Amino acid sequence: MKRIFSGAQPTGGFHLGNYLGALRNWVELQREYESFFCVVNLHALTNPQDPKELAAKTREVARLYLAAGIDPEVSTIFIQSDVPEHAELAWILNCIARVAELERMTQYKDKAAKQREGVGAGILNYPVLMAADILLYKTDLVPVGHDQKQHLELTRDLAERFNRDYGETFRIPEAFIPKVGARIMSLSNPQKKMAKSDENPQSSIALLDDAETIRRKLKRAVTDSGTEIRFDETRPALTNLLTIYRLLTQRTPQEIEEHFAGKGYAQLKGELADVVVEFLRPFQERVHGISDEELERILESGRERASGIARATMEEVKNRLGLHGAHSRN
Ligand code: AMP
Ligand code: TRP
Repeated sequence: MKRIFSGAQPTGGFHLGNYLGALRNWVELQREYESFFCVVNLHALTNPQDPKELAAKTREVARLYLAAGIDPEVSTIFIQSDVPEHAELAWILNCIARVAELERMTQYKDKAAKQREGVGAGILNYPVLMAADILLYKTDLVPVGHDQKQHLELTRDLAERFNRDYGETFRIPEAFIPKVGARIMSLSNPQKKMAKSDENPQSSIALLDDAETIRRKLKRAVTDSGTEIRFDETRPALTNLLTIYRLLTQRTPQEIEEHFAGKGYAQLKGELADVVVEFLRPFQERVHGISDEELERILESGRERASGIARATMEEVKNRLGLHGAHSRN
């Protein structure tokens, strides 16, 4: 069976973009692949975190995976820092990565431009840790949103470089980026993607928002000029709302346009709010329905399954590099 690996950071409010761009596809694909879904808490450290909050968020994100429909009987859910091989392989890959190629990453450039105190080295090396996550599991497919495409290309480059220099070790992974939903835009600025790091809470719908908040945010969402409700690339704010509606109702664009013919923005926003609220209600119930004990049991068994594979890959990598510890010489 081919393998999937993906992950998300336990920071900020998980939003509809995360669900529609990534999580939804993990759930769809999990039965066709052997799947690993990781809560990447080491990545979160690239920005300052409150330790208590980070610990709580990490558990919360694991709950969101489960509530979205990741089945722990079929897929492996685990926490990145529980498997030390991620950090170990990241160091090794850092030694074959080049500063210039890391400086070319657009996420790095964006973040570096914003940081007045000087950008942390972790932000530069962030995609190398991501490459380690993926390569440790000899992953075939990585389902992510559009913003991760460049990181996947770097991952492939690092794997190819390692294989060329030290012998065939890593599988070269492919990105799985959905045709629709890979880039859900901000509700307050359709030129920007919906992002956890956005300071304006109005810009995104968090998966844990209550009904009233969702209705208010959608009511205030910016719109474009023009009145007709239809999918239209030249009206990005409207198209974004329609895309969310489309993915949550699974109706075709044609059906949706017919449904809204002769209706206006207010009607669309109201109906979209109904759809989002109806979708999130059972989702939120599932989040709260998972007991702490059950969650710990799932994460522990995930840690075990992931560790077995990570350890075997690291053995191979160390052998390739001539890193033989005293205990492993035989
Ligand atoms: P992050 O929020 O960076 O932890 O992202 C977790 C996953 O959600 C990644 O696969 C991202 O590509 C995806 N993602 C984040 N923001 C969006 C968005 N606005 N639209 C679609 N996918 C997204
Ligand atoms: N960088 C990803 C994001 O911000 C999260 C991530 C870390 C990831 N490691 C990964 C995604 C490995 C896929 C595979 O969205």
